[in-house]
Amino acid sequence: MPELISPDVSSYLEQLVPPRVSELAAMEAYGTETNFPIVGPVAGQLCYQLARLMGAQRIFELGSGYGYSTAWFARAVQENGGGVVHHVVWDDNLSQMARKHLGALGYTDIVRFQVGEAVEALRNTDATFDIIFNDINKEGYPASIPVILEKLVLVVCSSSTTCFGVERFLTRRITPPQRRVCAKLPSYSRTAASGSQHWLPFVMA
Ligand SMILES: C[S@@+](CC[C@H](N)C(=O)[O-])C[C@H]1O[C@@H](n2cnc3c(N)ncnc32)[C@H](O)[C@@H]1O
Repeated sequence: MPELISPDVSSYLEQLVPPRVSELAAMEAYGTETNFPIVGPVAGQLCYQLARLMGAQRIFELGSGYGYSTAWFARAVQENGGGVVHHVVWDDNLSQMARKHLGALGYTDIVRFQVGEAVEALRNTDATFDIIFNDINKEGYPASIPVILEKLVLVVCSSSTTCFGVERFLTRRITPPQRRVCAKLPSYSRTAASGSQHWLPFVMA
């Protein structure tokens, strides 16, 4: 499958990211070894910078895996003076792995863990958030928008594959279920770009 960004550009961007502490580096190595789709250091650094610039103290992640993206947000929140980052994933093993990694990184006081479907978890919270980071399975994206709009104060981040994945999928043979998912994504991207319901900055990380 072709890469979204040329490997030369990717390597260039990656070497601009400052070295990571060993626990975060180990999480990256695990992602590479197992082909687990973490956001990676470039998008992680972008999320961190965004959260720092905004002084974000309340962040909700939808689809947190084993906590790699959470670690970047938690670092920003800790440096912003403290707050909360919600880690939500529906796989208990991943949640356990995240607890271990994020504990070792010193973010136990900041991260709240929940095992379950992420949009439902967001719907059931009373709070609003400075950042909502959306990284769930793509078929869940369209239905996530109204819930996010209800709970959001400032910025939505979305995984870039949400937008670019459409183009990528369309250029190769895809199965009917994938095609159905892809057909919904342009409307998600258009909503993200137009901000027609709110002043709603979407950042594709
Ligand atoms: C793309 S991975 C991203 C991991 C994380 N954001 C990172 O970059 O480190 C998404 C993870 O969320 C889980 N997931 C997908 N859709 C979900 C949903 N609707 N509710 C809860 N977990 C979900 C997947 O099984 C996977 O573990």
